[in-house]
Amino acid sequence: MVEKSMKSILVTGALGQIGSELVAELRTKYGHDNVIATDLRDPRETLSVEPPYEQLDVLDRNRLWEVSKRYGIDTIYHLAAILSAVGEKKPDLAWDVNMRGLKNILDLGMERNMTRIMVPSSIAVFGPTTPVDDTPQETLLRPNSMYGVTKVAGELLCDYYWSKYKLDVRGVRYPGLISYKTPPGGGTTDYAVAIYVDAIKKGRYTCFVREDTVLPMMYMPDALKAIIDLAEADGETLRYRNAYNIAALSFDVAQLAESIQRHIPEFEVRYEPDFHQAIADSWPNTIDDTAARDDWHWQPNFDLDAMTDDMLANLRRMQDEGTLY
Ligand SMILES: NC(=O)c1ccc[n+]([C@@H]2O[C@H](COP(=O)([O-])OP(=O)(O)OC[C@H]3O[C@@H](n4cnc5c(N)ncnc54)[C@H](O)[C@@H]3O)[C@@H](O)[C@H]2O)c1
Repeated sequence: MVEKSMKSILVTGALGQIGSELVAELRTKYGHDNVIATDLRDPRETLSVEPPYEQLDVLDRNRLWEVSKRYGIDTIYHLAAILSAVGEKKPDLAWDVNMRGLKNILDLGMERNMTRIMVPSSIAVFGPTTPVDDTPQETLLRPNSMYGVTKVAGELLCDYYWSKYKLDVRGVRYPGLISYKTPPGGGTTDYAVAIYVDAIKKGRYTCFVREDTVLPMMYMPDALKAIIDLAEADGETLRYRNAYNIAALSFDVAQLAESIQRHIPEFEVRYEPDFHQAIADSWPNTIDDTAARDDWHWQPNFDLDAMTDDMLANLRRMQDEGTLY
């Protein structure tokens, strides 16, 4: 019998902003060779992840089944997705990857009787009619971006596989994620990463949303902790299973700039709002994450200034090493 600790984990979209850090964290926790990183890119082109790595398109069912059989996969972290800003430009691709790709993963999990499937959702499930302050766990989900539409439908599909087939699918609604290792992949909150990179490289930044734009955000170490803690939580305690609200930080761009100016006083920000503004305006200011705190003891570690200190220290180190993108 396979021990519970002997997980064999497949990560899709492993070369993205979350995957590039989650794979390392999972390998430390569960053993290097028990975590199979997969993404669209040819392994010969990607030096950014150590083997085991497989080139895998989540739209390719045959290959999904083949890879998961070969490695005896029992757990999937499904990160492959098209994010909000790219999704507005390529809605067909967003629909295909976010819906058909997800359904392939759920079918695979069900047919192969897997232990756990982790599927991140997003604050993009909320829309202009959702209460913007302390957005509740259960509330109106009427988004107006293609990405948001796929994320709501994805949450419902995950719930369906749990209630109908008892496939243990779990997820959190991530806010905007801030990290330094890998550039973000085309989301609306990408400005909150780019501002740090440009502060280091140029001492100035042009922001694509207004300075009073408030959005919920989270530093990557907290985001990794959240998804792994939820995966490890006792299923009996989970009232929602999928799509838990989680919160860490909420700030406007002016506050973010001030936090950076503690280190770089001459740093300047200009504002040139574009199509990102409408998406940002349809998302909440702050999130009520009481259910996650009660059910699986969710608690973040980083506040805004602690995150800024860590981001700038690491980006400066990367600049000195010549590895800053
Ligand atoms: N980063 C954030 O701020 C954020 C916030 C909320 C939710 N999320 C969710 O977290 C998950 C991961 O997000 P991320 O920020 O790492 O995204 P990302 O865009 O940085 O990475 C996604 C990865 O998926 C891969 N991919 C795209 N199409 C694929 C396909 N057909 N088959 C296999 N791989 C494919 C891409 O090559 C990329 O490496 C997504 O579900 C996203 O919606 C992210």
